Amino acid sequence: MNEPLDDHALDQIFRTARTYSAWLNKPVSDEMPQRIYDLMKWGPTSANASPARFVFVRSPASKERLRPALSPGNVDKTMAAPVTVIIAYDLLFFKKLPKLFPHSKGMRDLFASNPQLVEVTAKRNSSLQGAYLMIAARALGLDCGPMSGFDNAKLDEEFFGAGQECEGCEQEFFPAGSVKSNFLCNLGYGDPAGLFPRGPRLEFGEACSVL
Ligand SMILES: Cc1cc2nc3c(=O)[nH]c(=O)nc-3n(C[C@H](O)[C@H](O)[C@H](O)COP(=O)(O)O)c2cc1C
Repeated sequence: MNEPLDDHALDQIFRTARTYSAWLNKPVSDEMPQRIYDLMKWGPTSANASPARFVFVRSPASKERLRPALSPGNVDKTMAAPVTVIIAYDLLFFKKLPKLFPHSKGMRDLFASNPQLVEVTAKRNSSLQGAYLMIAARALGLDCGPMSGFDNAKLDEEFFGAGQECEGCEQEFFPAGSVKSNFLCNLGYGDPAGLFPRGPRLEFGEACSVL
């Protein structure tokens, strides 16, 4: 039986967590991408398919590769962030189902024969996995700045090869061109000086019903 987290933890993950655009001059440690991944990977996905793929963009040279795809309003905050994560999805995610969902032998073929199901599953679950990533990052003391204001096709061409070989890429998911971006998330230690006043949220009665 789990105990509820204490108020400090709930504040850090939800109530006082903000979307940051300005960053303190404090680096994100080399271990953080792995620590974040090793937490967020446990979040549930359909058929345990885990379609999201993540690129942690850190070096100034790699950051520059993002620049042309960004909406003007997202350029400065992204260039200033210690890390920008590309939350993407692999449309060939089902190839890994024999490993990830071994007790259901037909699942791989079900996806292989249904591109629409592949697409909706990849988008839904990579969005969820992006949210798990933000919760994990906040739980580890980092701040987040999610963004969808960018040209997905341009970014995919640059980082995922859009069907062509990607010179110098090591990860097996780069060459196939089957990986598409979903959204971006800046990571770092946020500078509260750059915050807008907190926007309200819908009240329970505006967003929820209990039947
Ligand atoms: C998927 C997603 C896409 C977003 N896209 C952008 C964006 O392109 N540019 C931007 O400045 N903020 C973007 N935001 C930030 C939201 O406006 C922000 O999270 C929201 O207003 C809540 O702010 P708060 O966390 O400080 O309360 C995005 C947020 C999410 C979750």
